[in-house]
Amino acid sequence: MSQPDLPIIEPFRIKSVEPIRMTTREERERHVAEAEGNLFRIPAKNVLIDLLTDSGTGAMSSAQWGAVLRGDESYAGSPSYERFEQSVHELFGFEHVIPTHQGRAAEHILFQTLGGPGLVFPNNTHFDTTRANIESTGAAALDLPCAESADTRSTFPFKGNMDLDALEGLLEREKGNVPLVMMTVTNNGAGGQAVAIDNLRAVRAICDSHGVPLFIDACRFAENAWLVKQRDPAWAEKDVREIVRATFEVADGCTMSAKKDGLANIGGFLAVRDRDLARELRQRLVVTEGFPTYGGMSGRDLEAVAQGLTEVIEEDYLAYRQASIAYVCDRLDERGIPVVLPAGGHAIFLDAARFLPHVPWSKFPGQALAIELYLEGGIRSCEIGSLMMGRKDEDGNELPAAHELVRLAIPRRTYTQSHMDYLIAIIERVWQRRSEIGGVEITFEPPVLRHFGASFRSVPAAQPEVSGRT
Ligand code: F0G
Repeated sequence: MSQPDLPIIEPFRIKSVEPIRMTTREERERHVAEAEGNLFRIPAKNVLIDLLTDSGTGAMSSAQWGAVLRGDESYAGSPSYERFEQSVHELFGFEHVIPTHQGRAAEHILFQTLGGPGLVFPNNTHFDTTRANIESTGAAALDLPCAESADTRSTFPFKGNMDLDALEGLLEREKGNVPLVMMTVTNNGAGGQAVAIDNLRAVRAICDSHGVPLFIDACRFAENAWLVKQRDPAWAEKDVREIVRATFEVADGCTMSAKKDGLANIGGFLAVRDRDLARELRQRLVVTEGFPTYGGMSGRDLEAVAQGLTEVIEEDYLAYRQASIAYVCDRLDERGIPVVLPAGGHAIFLDAARFLPHVPWSKFPGQALAIELYLEGGIRSCEIGSLMMGRKDEDGNELPAAHELVRLAIPRRTYTQSHMDYLIAIIERVWQRRSEIGGVEITFEPPVLRHFGASFRSVPAAQPEVSGRT
């Protein structure tokens, strides 16, 4: 709940609590050393506030826990599937609903079916698992974010948009090689930024003129709908359900991770309009996920998602969530701390390139900053920069990502406003001593999704350059 001039309060009260534990600085230094600088390797019990991801880390409601008990575990035709299918169908409007254990399983099935060498899949910005699932088929994953997204300081309200001219040009050039266009709402890779309904409609029109289907990566559909309502006067008076309908009516299908706006701890789905495509996708589903009426989820998971989808579009909830994230973003911005503007839907993004301007991209300033936030206050965050999104050229040389960001992803309904105040205070302390912070180098690197498994060693802050002039 958020009313101007009143403190932000959570629109729920707490029925069940989970203790979190403060550690000492010495302990945290040991934890970082043992994890070889990779925060994914730190046991969660050693983290005070875990902002690694907003995925699967939210708190379920009492209504969801109640629904869990109703879960029917029949292998085929479970009534829990019927409730799940109904709830997805009502909200998103797709005829065929195919459950998967999480979002990347939906991506895997979709791209194994439609991908292959020589093909190209454009997106406003691919999430890392989407990219990996496309590239593993030999196809190319192309990001076409709008120009405004390049400037982390720009307050353009829809920095998640697709670059329409670039899309048009690509479809022209790659005629016959683009099996589908994808739009990720909100655009996680570009800072959790909103996508405008107008932009979605324009993408649809371009797709139509080239006869190419449009799919939506729906993970944060409700947060996107809320940002549309806040930022586009044409939608200000509409309810969220209507905005969600407008979002998906332009699409031929979607992939979804229910671990985000499904308000569940696991689950996902693929949903499509085309019957023949649905049949093909279900064939693959049976091999890797499960029978089409559970597809990788238990009956109780299906129930939790079905109920979660009704709660996530409640306006009190969305208003509070957005206000709480914008609160952190605005307080940091006021202090001159570089953040991605405007506030996104699920996370606060620090701009590590501007936070640590003395650390070059090749020394991963985002990873260095994430480590410092853990050392300073037990906060776990995630680099989204040249470590996660960087590429290599044909000779194996590193290429930088578009941005060096640190994402503070806020789990849904899990932390309170005082946790947010603590977060601001810790970031400010790190900001005060930023000039002492050096970068990191990779000492071990796995071949795919390297950020999950890489090891690092820290390198000291560069000494001021000694001038060669006499
Ligand atoms: N698409 C987007 C935009 C995502 O953010 C994610 C996951 C996925 C797809 C894959 O879904 O995890 O259920 O397999 N994002 C998480 C994150 C992991 O931290 O942003 P999944």
